[in-house]
Amino acid sequence: MWIADMDFEAPAPIVEALQKRALHPNYGYTVRPDSYYKAMIDWLKRRQNWTIQKDWLCYSPGIVPAINFAIQAFTEPGEKVLIQSPVYYPFFAAVENNNRELAISELLCENQYYSMDFDDLEKQFADGVKMMILCSPHNPVGRVWTRQELEKLTDLLLKYQVRLVSDEIHSDIVFKEHQHCPIASLSPEIAAQTITCIAPSKTFNVAGLATSAIIISEEDVREKFRCKLGECGIGLGNIFGITALEAAYTQCEDWLEAMLDYLKINKDTLDKFLLENIPEIIPIRTDGTFLAWLDCRPLGLSPEELKKFMVDEAKLGLDEGAKFGPGGEGFMRMNIGCPHSVLETALEQLKTAVEKQRK
Ligand SMILES: Cc1ncc(COP(=O)(O)O)c(C=O)c1O
Repeated sequence: MWIADMDFEAPAPIVEALQKRALHPNYGYTVRPDSYYKAMIDWLKRRQNWTIQKDWLCYSPGIVPAINFAIQAFTEPGEKVLIQSPVYYPFFAAVENNNRELAISELLCENQYYSMDFDDLEKQFADGVKMMILCSPHNPVGRVWTRQELEKLTDLLLKYQVRLVSDEIHSDIVFKEHQHCPIASLSPEIAAQTITCIAPSKTFNVAGLATSAIIISEEDVREKFRCKLGECGIGLGNIFGITALEAAYTQCEDWLEAMLDYLKINKDTLDKFLLENIPEIIPIRTDGTFLAWLDCRPLGLSPEELKKFMVDEAKLGLDEGAKFGPGGEGFMRMNIGCPHSVLETALEQLKTAVEKQRK
């Protein structure tokens, strides 16, 4: 229940489209057809009310490479790049491996629900931050940022001319009562300053096909990004990824709705079980994603002891909160994109281990 891949089979239309493509016995270089772009444009319009142009779409094999390319293309060594911790740990590596200065703004947590620290963001932006990497929705704390929050962030980004990389890989995994808002859809001004990253990889379990889309509205920004891809020898991409993306965004909406309902049952089951049986582990309230963020601090264990407890006593492989940076210590991230039965077994194991610990 650790790495962020769900246990579910990819939807049947994707499997069928891949099987059909595999029957055509030539797997050479290819170009992305118009139907590939149309699938993405229509999906974003339908699901996220965002109108984009075909020209804005760039390819990247993954979101993590795209974040690295953006850092290299739009900042200089030594310049400050801000991230909000606790956060998906490759964000730290992307900044540090490129010799940029890491600026961290810790998220705030009140009543088991996270929010952005706008005062701290403003202070840090005023202090010379060049780029921010936003996780929207946020991994691991499960927030789907509201339009109001993103508008407030936009005001600051525009005021201090901070370029934004918005990682929206989890934007389709949002529970019913919430709505993802692509920050670049808020105004042409913020779009001009933003590089948005999307992919079908997490939503439809096709991460291994290495196909993501990077959306950049300004031509000169886009050209700079494409030049960086060229310098790194990124070419035409994976032929099966093209097929899977198109099938995902044109034929898998019913599957997605059913999957979201299934996931919500898992989240509700987890919350109820912990509340009733393990008050020492407090689930953070989430608006989406298949990741649960568990506050294990009441167990009173150090990060090392907590990891050992989960592995040796509860027999669970979770992600250690400390890996997600400041604010993550004492937490664990649990992937609940799994069959109900797997979750129930895990919870029983956890209960038994905590009961033993209490004695
Ligand atoms: C927020 C976030 N960004 C990016 C990725 C990985 O993206 P990719 O495999 O396309 O590099 C993940 C995977 O868990 C993620 O959670």
